Amino acid sequence: MTHEIAVIPGDGIGKEVTPAAVDVLEATPIDFDFVEGEAGDEVLAETGTALPEHTQEIAADADATLFGAAGETAADVILPLRSIVGSFANVRPARSYPGLDAVKPETDLVFIRENTEGVYSGLESEITEGVRTLTRVVTEDASEEIAEYGFKYARRNGYDDVTIAHKANVMRETDGLFLETAERVADERDAEYETALMDALAMHLVMHPEDYGVVICPNLAGDMLSDLAAGLVGGLGLLPSANVGPENALFEPVHGSAPDIAGEGIANPSAMILSAAMLLDHLGYPDEATAVRDAVESVLESGPRTPDVGGDATTEEVTDAVIDQI
Ligand code: NAI
Ligand code: MG
Repeated sequence: MTHEIAVIPGDGIGKEVTPAAVDVLEATPIDFDFVEGEAGDEVLAETGTALPEHTQEIAADADATLFGAAGETAADVILPLRSIVGSFANVRPARSYPGLDAVKPETDLVFIRENTEGVYSGLESEITEGVRTLTRVVTEDASEEIAEYGFKYARRNGYDDVTIAHKANVMRETDGLFLETAERVADERDAEYETALMDALAMHLVMHPEDYGVVICPNLAGDMLSDLAAGLVGGLGLLPSANVGPENALFEPVHGSAPDIAGEGIANPSAMILSAAMLLDHLGYPDEATAVRDAVESVLESGPRTPDVGGDATTEEVTDAVIDQI
């Protein structure tokens, strides 16, 4: 069976790390058909649109999508792409790796972030000069979907600690619904969990990340807490993510286009390659996914490494070393 994968490198280091992930996927025994599409600042400058029709079509039709990063147009690219693949869950693992400097080496967290609503609903307006508003949308359906996904993920992946992050003491209606729905889902499954106010949780995650496993979050909280966790484990070059829908899914590193190092050939491909490993899991190849993750881990431990993680190797040298390990 051949899997059709839409490949959207985007801008900056997206163009450098995405080919690395494609090379790694080609090194597995699985058959892929890669279809490439453009998105981001560069294609906007050339054609007047940051997300051309062709790119939207290949993402809609493919079995899964690999996306690198966009620059200033990131929101115009990734928000529609997430909705094209129908993704309701943004899965962001943040773990440390042996041999790499980390503020908290004991970190092994997975953020399950609601991906469709909350304060990222896009419903903003100017009421009058100097006064603007945002409508925060929380629905029972989306809250139920994300909670069910989170508890399933925890069980499947062997995490005992599940935390529901919220701020229902202040946002009583919206986060009240999020929290009450997630607690109902937990009770229906007889699952253990704890709840945490998201501001206090930010502090606890920094001090004692080892007390946490899966964290189920509203949209903005998941965005912020997962970047905080990136800081605990050694930086953005290491964090993959998945945007998962009922049938389709899109995989991307958490990082952006990194204009400060773009074009130098020194971007860390680990986040993108680990995103490709999540794609393998999603398509039903857990052994191949584990082989890719193990290879990345072994190269991070013994080198070669890119400069962001203390080495002087290029993206290509690291990618070749990962492929050798597979
Ligand atoms: P960024 O993630 O691009 O870079 C932050 C810092 O981390 C930079 O110093 C960069 O060099 C470093 N870094 C990131 N990924 C790395 C890697 N793989 N290897 C080595 N170092 C790495 O975030 P920033 O600087 O806030 O944004 C730059 C551009 O990216 C902006 O135009 C922003 O809009 C866009 N962006 C796009 C995203 C997306 O497409 N999903 C997500 C975040 C930002
Ligand atoms: Mg972010």
